[in-house]
Amino acid sequence: MKNVYIIANWKMQQSPEQAQQVAKDLVKKVKKDKIKRGREVVICPTFTELPALSKILKGNQIGLGAQDVAEEDYSAFTGGVSAAGLKYYDCEYVIVGHSERRTYLHETNQQVNKKIKLVLKSNLIPIVCIGETFEERQAGQKEAVLMEQLAEGLSGVWVHENQKMLIAYEPVWVIGSGQAVDPDEAERTHAAIRRALLEHLPAKIVSDNIGIIYGGSVNSLNVKDFLDRPSIDGVLVGGASLTLDKFWPIINY
Ligand code: PGA
Repeated sequence: MKNVYIIANWKMQQSPEQAQQVAKDLVKKVKKDKIKRGREVVICPTFTELPALSKILKGNQIGLGAQDVAEEDYSAFTGGVSAAGLKYYDCEYVIVGHSERRTYLHETNQQVNKKIKLVLKSNLIPIVCIGETFEERQAGQKEAVLMEQLAEGLSGVWVHENQKMLIAYEPVWVIGSGQAVDPDEAERTHAAIRRALLEHLPAKIVSDNIGIIYGGSVNSLNVKDFLDRPSIDGVLVGGASLTLDKFWPIINY
């Protein structure tokens, strides 16, 4: 059975106290109620919370991820956080190319490409975000945009048998909107993504080592509509992952 990934993207939404409290509450809940088999739950807090959360989550069936990484190895790169440094703090996953970084910080597919390579080199799992804006969708460019993000982002990327990679399809226009995309559309898009991946990587790697997950206004009411579909390997959750009362029904729907 393939794992189902439930990834929390906490963005920059909480104070240190809030983030650590939610993590502690989650650990308590997991000890009491257990996570269903085959679920891979991962928390991605802001960088500064990684050391604290690494201590809280360790050994409690909850993985740790970062929300970004520098596109260079250890070097003169002020403000950067290296993939190797993330590994030191027990990170297993790294979100790369989130639309907020592409939009506000003008992150390019070429930067995303360098980051993916460094993440894999450190034996971490990249969660590569791709997605179209509302304007691109209206202009009929959705598929072309996604395919370009994949082709340029994955150029020269190789995933080995002992590595994993997740592709997160996140339509930019539904993120934080409260209204997820129609699950039928997500399913069709995931199929197109899978076809594109087969142009870059061997079929066995695509089926065994790569998951395609959906993100954008996932909540406890709609999570089942996505995860019941075999082509959707998990969800990337923002707003609804910030408190235990909203996140737990998603984890164990
Ligand atoms: P959302 O965010 O669940 O709040 O829409 C998802 C994301 O940005 O990854």
